[in-house]
Order: sequence, then C-alpha cells, then structure tokens
Amino acid sequence: TGRLVLGIESSCDETGVGVVAGTRLLANAVSSSMDEHVRFGGVIPEIASRAHLDAMLPTIRAALDTAGVGLADLDAIAVTSGPGLSGALMVGVSAAKALALAAGTPLYAVNHLVAHVGVGLLDGDGAGAATTPDQLPENLLPDNLLPDNLGALLVSGGHTEILRVRSIVRDVELLGATLDDAAGEAYDKVARILGLAYPGGPAIDSAAADGDPRAFAFPRGLTAARYLGTATAPGSHRYDFSFSGLKTAVARVVEGFAARGEAVPVADVAASFQEAVADVITAKAVLACREHGITSLLLGGGVAANSRLRVLTAERCAEAGIELTVPPLRLCTDNGAMVAALGAQLVAAGVAPSGLGFGADSSQP
Ligand code: KG4
Ligand code: ZN
Repeated sequence: TGRLVLGIESSCDETGVGVVAGTRLLANAVSSSMDEHVRFGGVIPEIASRAHLDAMLPTIRAALDTAGVGLADLDAIAVTSGPGLSGALMVGVSAAKALALAAGTPLYAVNHLVAHVGVGLLDGDGAGAATTPDQLPENLLPDNLLPDNLGALLVSGGHTEILRVRSIVRDVELLGATLDDAAGEAYDKVARILGLAYPGGPAIDSAAADGDPRAFAFPRGLTAARYLGTATAPGSHRYDFSFSGLKTAVARVVEGFAARGEAVPVADVAASFQEAVADVITAKAVLACREHGITSLLLGGGVAANSRLRVLTAERCAEAGIELTVPPLRLCTDNGAMVAALGAQLVAAGVAPSGLGFGADSSQP
C-alpha cells in the first residue's frame, strides 16, 4: 500500500490537506478563502493568513477522517515551505511542525512547484474521477511510473513555468518562467480592464466563447528572434514568458473604443487575448520538450482549466508526439494531496526528513 503521508498546503488562498498511501490518494480536503478576496480583486495576504489559521485544524481533521486514519498512523508529514505568501506559508509550516512534534512523525519541507508535478504520480484510479465538463485527456501517470525525462507546464495565478524533471526527488530544472506577470495574473488584470469579475480566468474563458480569436492581433511576448535565438544557439529567453506587453496592448485597444465612444467588443477582445496566451505558452512548452528530448508533459496550475489552453496543448502535443497528462482540475489547483504525493516520493527514495529547523521561504526558487 505504501507509506501513509499527510501533506499540508497553505502558500496562497487554499488551505489544503491531503493524505496518500504511497501513490494512492486517500483524502484531499481543501478550504479556500477566495470569497473573501473577491471584492479586493486580488488575494490579500493578511486575509489569507487569518483564513488559514481558521481553516487549518478543521481541514486536517477532515482529511484524516476521510482517509480513516489517525495522527499516530502517519509515516510522515510533508508541508509546502515555499514559494508563496510568507504569512500564509507560516501557518502551514507551524501546523505541520506542531503535528510532527506531537506525534513524533518525520517532517518533510517541500517546494510548492515540485509538488504540482508530484501530483501526477498518484494512481489514476484513486484520483482520476472526472471533474471537468470537457472530453479532454485527464489521465494521471500510470502507477508510480515517472518517465525519467518528464516536462511540466505549470500555469497559475502565481507561476508560469516550464520544468524538466529527471527525478522528482533530486533533479528538477527550471527551463523557463515568466519575467513579469504569471498567466493567471494576466487573466485577472485583463478581466479588470474589460470590466469582468475577479478571478478573471473563468470570466474571460466564458466571454471568449462567443468571440473571434482573430479579431485582434495581440503581441506574443518574447517570441521575437532576439529572444528565441536558435536551437543550437538559444536566446536567453527562449523558454521564458512575458505577459505585460499583452496586457498593455489590450488596455490600448479598450481605451481606443472608449475614446471613440464605441462599445468594447468584449467577447472578441477576450477571445483574442486568450488565443495569444495559449499560443505562446503551448508553443514554448512544446519547443522546450522537443529540444530536451521530453516525450511526456504534465499540465498543472489553475489556468489548466482554460478551455483554449487545454485544446491547444492537446493538439500541439499530439502533433509533436508528446504524451500529455492533465490531472483532474481539483488536483491541478493548489491542494494538499500534491504535497502528500511528493512527500511519499521523498520517503520512498529514502531522503532524510527536514527536521523542525526550517522556515517558510516565500522566495524559494
Ligand atoms: O492554481 P490556482 O488555483 O492558484 C494559484 O494562483 O496558485 O490558479 C488561479 C488562477 C487565477 O489567476 C485564475 O484567474 C486562473 O487560475 N484561472 C483561469 C481559469 N480558471 C482559473 N485562467 C484561465 N482560464 C480559466 N478557465
Ligand atoms: Zn500553485
């Protein structure tokens, strides 16, 4: 069955606690404070921290109850130590240390982004119940079988990254990342420009459904030759992203309509913006895979919910002969199961526990 590991996640607005037995998912309890941030149009760190304090013990209790295990049964506890919001991280780290100390359980500090990849190691039958309306692939990797050269495309409100994973416990390399806004952040900012609700991703996604993605030719950041270079002489930003120019271009277009006293064609702007984001993200991810001999790509993060991104990633991966894995959405967004899943890998690999001396590290790479 594998070692019993409890994972705690609190890097942003989700209080997540998961329990796994090796690669089998037993529980995934999540409490989100998003409702409290909506009126501010963004996650307010202080509010998130306080919400974690309120939710932490009940969420731990819920996860243990669902899994049908007690604290004393756990072989290890894992917790996100960074990156993320400092105060938010501290709540999870403190709770994990307290549990580990009280129960005498080994404690592992894990990286949030690596944990997003680790969730792909869970068995399909434990985690793969359909959670999204569309028919796109939602398979998890087969039983604990991580290809030794896996790619990961992580897109959320906090990160936009391409990772190369040779070993989830000891060799994860950052191939590219955003230089400014994360993809989800760009969605949130553009939604505000268009007068749509926060969080902007779902609002733009549905507005775009009625729009023409070719109505506006918005810029594709960092795709000029000087950034890309060539396969043999890669430019310094070949796999990096930038969304601030795109956001500004959308703002200019919207201002133009306003200045002329015309109604903004929201659906067309949303569809064209969404196309630009999905185009550049998928093109660079596939490029990075091709050039690193990566034949298996995992898509994670809240923006993995985006309908256009899912279709385009699936299309381009199929063309390039890359096997695409998209975990169920509740495992793509922040959760504790991913932390537990990575913790179980660390235990299985014989990695030494972190002890109680580590702290929350908001800017952990
Ligand atoms: O992973 P996540 O739940 O939280 C973190 O940021 O870590 O991601 C949230 C982000 C938000 O920026 C939200 O606007 C975006 O994911 N998002 C989407 C969609 N659903 C959520 N972006 C584009 N299309 C969507 N359907
Ligand atoms: Zn995340």
